[in-house]
Amino acid sequence: MENVALVLVAAVAENGVIGRAGGLPWRLKSDLQHFRTLTFGHPVLMGRKTYQSIGRPLPGRTNIVVTRDRSFCAPGLIVAPNLEAGLEAARGDALRRGVDAIMIIGGADIYAQTMPLASRLEITRVHAQPTGDALFPPIAETEWRETARREGEASAQDEATFTFISYVRAANTP
Ligand SMILES: NC(=O)c1ccc[n+]([C@@H]2O[C@H](COP(=O)([O-])OP(=O)(O)OC[C@H]3O[C@@H](n4cnc5c(N)ncnc54)[C@H](OP(=O)(O)O)[C@@H]3O)[C@@H](O)[C@H]2O)c1
Repeated sequence: MENVALVLVAAVAENGVIGRAGGLPWRLKSDLQHFRTLTFGHPVLMGRKTYQSIGRPLPGRTNIVVTRDRSFCAPGLIVAPNLEAGLEAARGDALRRGVDAIMIIGGADIYAQTMPLASRLEITRVHAQPTGDALFPPIAETEWRETARREGEASAQDEATFTFISYVRAANTP
């Protein structure tokens, strides 16, 4: 995608879980702030289920939702009928905004389809083992190189401790 990178942004438990019953399996206020800092001013691309779990367009970002449901619409969104169209809309928006990244914000279905195209991962590793029905794809050590790591500072409104980890695609992989 020329000079616009695809970045997957996710909070992932130690067992790979990212979601349960259509929502998040934890309450982590500090991670929501981190998520806002990472994504603000960028196009954010998500699946229809993640959009419905958030329930509204995220302010300060161009919200692109992919769905196969031709009748789906909601104010404040760009709706795309497939991933390619969603990425194309996101790329145009990134170029207009003068930013160099499209933020892919889930859920499991969308992460699985976009991981092969991504050049960066921004992972909040949540130090918990919740039950759940939505998983992040495995982060293969041979494909991804860790470039930054910072311990989160859990507040009273965080149900777990967490570490912010950045990865870039290792040079020898596609
Ligand atoms: N921990 C985190 O960081 C994080 C982040 C995001 C989400 N989550 C969690 O993840 C869960 C949701 O994930 P999910 O995998 O169930 O759903 P999802 O990825 O959010 O959305 C899946 C939906 O997106 C649409 N879609 C997917 N691929 C498409 C394609 N190629 N073309 C057109 N439409 C496509 C389909 O919508 P239609 O069915 O309408 O056609 C599909 O049902 C929730 O529990 C949520 O809370 C966690």
